[in-house]
Amino acid sequence: MNIPKLQIGNLIADVPIVQGGMGVRVSLASLASAVAEAGGIGTISSIGLGDFEAATQAYERISREALAEEIRKARSMTNGIIAVNFMGVLSNVEDLLQTAVREGVQMIVFGAGLPMRLPKIVEDPSVNLVPIVSSARGAELILRGWEKRFERTAGAMILEGPLAGGHLGFTPEQLEHLEDFSHDTLVPELVEALKPFEDRFGHAIPVIAAGGIFDGKDIAHMLSLGAAGVQMATRFVCTNECDAAQAFKQTYLDASEEDIVIVKSPVGLPGRAIRNKFLKDLESIDKLNINCLYRCLTVCKVADAKFCIAQALLNAYQGDIDHGLVFCGQNAHRIDKIVSVKELMAELVRELQEALDEAQ
Ligand SMILES: Cc1cc2nc3c(=O)[nH]c(=O)nc-3n(C[C@H](O)[C@H](O)[C@H](O)COP(=O)(O)O)c2cc1C
Repeated sequence: MNIPKLQIGNLIADVPIVQGGMGVRVSLASLASAVAEAGGIGTISSIGLGDFEAATQAYERISREALAEEIRKARSMTNGIIAVNFMGVLSNVEDLLQTAVREGVQMIVFGAGLPMRLPKIVEDPSVNLVPIVSSARGAELILRGWEKRFERTAGAMILEGPLAGGHLGFTPEQLEHLEDFSHDTLVPELVEALKPFEDRFGHAIPVIAAGGIFDGKDIAHMLSLGAAGVQMATRFVCTNECDAAQAFKQTYLDASEEDIVIVKSPVGLPGRAIRNKFLKDLESIDKLNINCLYRCLTVCKVADAKFCIAQALLNAYQGDIDHGLVFCGQNAHRIDKIVSVKELMAELVRELQEALDEAQ
């Protein structure tokens, strides 16, 4: 069997791999364009761009300009497919979405918050709306609402399982029972749940599986479950092209399985990260003093928040690991070297082809 292409609306990727959006600034134009150039779909993260010291009003304008610049930069580096990732909890998400659409982005990935109003903000029907969900139920809720209110459906759905990096759509209790939320159950359930929508709208809604997918064999397994492709993030951190500092990548290389933990984030969701000095210090400190200038999150209770997540993620990206939050997927400890995106994609494609051949 040949490696299937991944089609989302009229976008066709030769390799069915989407590089997951990684904030703050871990996936910008450099990483996204390298993945797109290698035949996958590269994703720019829209969060935390621009000058963090700016006050509220300026913050929105500066973030908007920085996102536009990042999209243009990626475009100048590849003709491949570039998506942009948004988080529903961002206070300026609407402005950022409009910016991406103005810049001609054809694939909008939306996580951390229900995207019930997304079709109203992104009215152009040629733009593919791709929500991130963690269950078939969540997908149905979104798509029923979209159909009723906007007569619109998704271009694809990303199913993010509990082994993913960053914020997770599972409760801390659910994360203690990983066996109940395996892709083997979640992917076929979602594929089935999307069928009525595909029938009514007359086009496929591909399922893209994410969370803990490490090698070509894993990708082949996701395809066998009915996924049309995968989203991977952690593997792309340890590439030359990843936009984060060398020290961020080194933290992955140094991490053991025991270092990978679940943290409580001011976003209101659990997140997976590496237990470094920053997280160890937080265990004995009641809270850090937060000087919040711009309220980047709608949900952050600044007075109660234990730390400023924007600053902690920015510190990590810049290489100040001792003061930074290093998000990662459950399999980060398995990475042992930094390679180019081209090498990583070639390895994944070779392993995927071998796994598909073996399955025949
Ligand atoms: C460092 C890091 C930052 C992330 N930031 C975001 C983000 O800003 N928005 C989002 O939707 N997902 C984010 N994610 C999740 C990824 O996009 C992806 O879906 C997930 O990590 C896939 O699992 P994997 O890392 O095991 O491949 C992040 C993941 C990592 C590792």
